[in-house]
Amino acid sequence: MNHAGVLTIALLFTTGLFGTAAHAAGDAEAGGKLFVRTCGGCHQVGESARPGFGPVLNGVIGRTAGSTEGYQYSEAMKSSGVVWTRETLAKYIEDPKSVVAGTRMIFWGISDQEKIENLLAYLETFQPQ
Ligand code: HEC
Repeated sequence: MNHAGVLTIALLFTTGLFGTAAHAAGDAEAGGKLFVRTCGGCHQVGESARPGFGPVLNGVIGRTAGSTEGYQYSEAMKSSGVVWTRETLAKYIEDPKSVVAGTRMIFWGISDQEKIENLLAYLETFQPQ
């Protein structure tokens, strides 16, 4: 699905068309704004994304932790064996060290589940087509 399609669905969800599913699906647009503010200093997404202080996060859902090209991960991340699913990502965003003890990602964590859902909805728009 393309970016616009996902946003359209997110908008449908927020208008309440699908009732309680609205919450679970997250709001990709709000997630995008939050991403720029809270993750964008270290991570890039999109076609021109390059590794920065942190790795590129395109297609992160479903891949093994520490597996993008051109980024020097910590040993902890490379050997974690974690696969990034919505569940492990949500936990990592909430408390990075609880998922990968010894990760170099210094992040205070976000505990608001709605914000986490929005971030995940945004990251889902950068999955391979
Ligand atoms: C201060 C910089 C910084 C911020 C802010 C930050 N990260 Fe990270 N992130 C990193 C670093 C550094 C790593 C690599 C950690 C390692 O190798 O242990 C990383 C790794 C990750 C990974 C694992 C990627 C992979 O390829 O396995 C994910 C997922 C991730 N970050 C998501 C996020 C999200 C989502 C946010 C915002 C809510 C965020 N990060 C905010 C620096 C940051």
